[in-house]
Amino acid sequence: MAQNTIYVLGLETSCDETAAAIVEMQLREGRVDGTGRVLSNQILSQIETHAPYGGVVPELAARAHLSHLDRLIAMAFKEADCTPDDMDAIAATAGPGLIGGLLIGLTTGKALALAAQKPFIGVNHLEGHALSARLTEQVEFPYLLLLVSGGHCQLLSVNGLDDYSLLGQTLDDAVGEAYDKAAKMMSLDYPGGPEIERRARHGDRRAYDLPRPLVSDKNPSCDFSFSGLKTALRQAAEKAAPLDDTKVANLAASFEAAVGDCLVAQTGHAMRRFRQVNGRPGDTLSLVVAGGVAANLYLRERLKKAAEVENFTLFVPPPALCTDNAAMIARAGAERFAAGLVKTRPMATIARARWPLDK
Ligand code: KG4
Ligand code: ZN
Repeated sequence: MAQNTIYVLGLETSCDETAAAIVEMQLREGRVDGTGRVLSNQILSQIETHAPYGGVVPELAARAHLSHLDRLIAMAFKEADCTPDDMDAIAATAGPGLIGGLLIGLTTGKALALAAQKPFIGVNHLEGHALSARLTEQVEFPYLLLLVSGGHCQLLSVNGLDDYSLLGQTLDDAVGEAYDKAAKMMSLDYPGGPEIERRARHGDRRAYDLPRPLVSDKNPSCDFSFSGLKTALRQAAEKAAPLDDTKVANLAASFEAAVGDCLVAQTGHAMRRFRQVNGRPGDTLSLVVAGGVAANLYLRERLKKAAEVENFTLFVPPPALCTDNAAMIARAGAERFAAGLVKTRPMATIARARWPLDK
């Protein structure tokens, strides 16, 4: 294999997707060059395992990772037509996430690296999401990142690899978590995000008057809060009971409109703050939206318009790379490997349930 091409295996087991992927990246002057190629992207969703419980059951998730990870790795090598010996590095999510699942991916990754005598890289799952847009688009640093997933809702300035500054974050629930809880209130299936999006398409977005917490032009903030919106939705659903398809569609649409307003308003403030540091008035800057909630087409459209107003170009990965996957972990591992950001004692990497991206 050519010298300036690297191959990295990535493993992802932090929540309810078991995943293994192999990426091929070109290097130039010690940095990855271009988007590279995803040679295999194996994902096994555990949705059916957890759906009866309305949320992820950590013990069941860990057992499922244990049962399936080895097979997914073998499938990834087969599809990419390579072996562990062809890898330049092996990467696995080391946190944040559910500790049982993390330990399985991390230990498997370390064992493979040890057996094949390859460098091992423990990757921050949030860094995987943060860099995921670079799998398909040439997005250069610095860029503004809106990270919206089941566990996080943050606005960050991505100044470079391993260089993040937090501009704002949720004070209570993550946005994906709010979607999942809202779906439960309306007896919709887990995970709630895709289900609410589907129902909302047929609903009236102004049917219910729901709050937009922390949204204000007088006190511009880049923080979010979704617990008040969730309570207001519960009260509206109780008042409207018994719920039929039309009421559910209207509740879902009104909820989604409120979430959209919150994301647009706070991201707007963040774009203006980001421009003060990174650009002049006429410059076109970049906004990346990543994480599972970024798969939502209504929210993507709202954010695209908001970005245009502020002269930002919006980059959002394709939906399959927004939700958890191992291609983004392999990609983050490849970027770290290329930049020489490999720990001196990688086998001492520990699993971390909490691991903020900014220092
Ligand atoms: O990034 P992700 O796959 O896992 C975490 O790292 O948390 O995000 C999962 C979250 C879930 O809360 C799910 O309901 C939400 O992303 N989600 C969506 C959509 N697809 C997934 N939320 C809104 N609309 C969607 N289409
Ligand atoms: Zn995630």
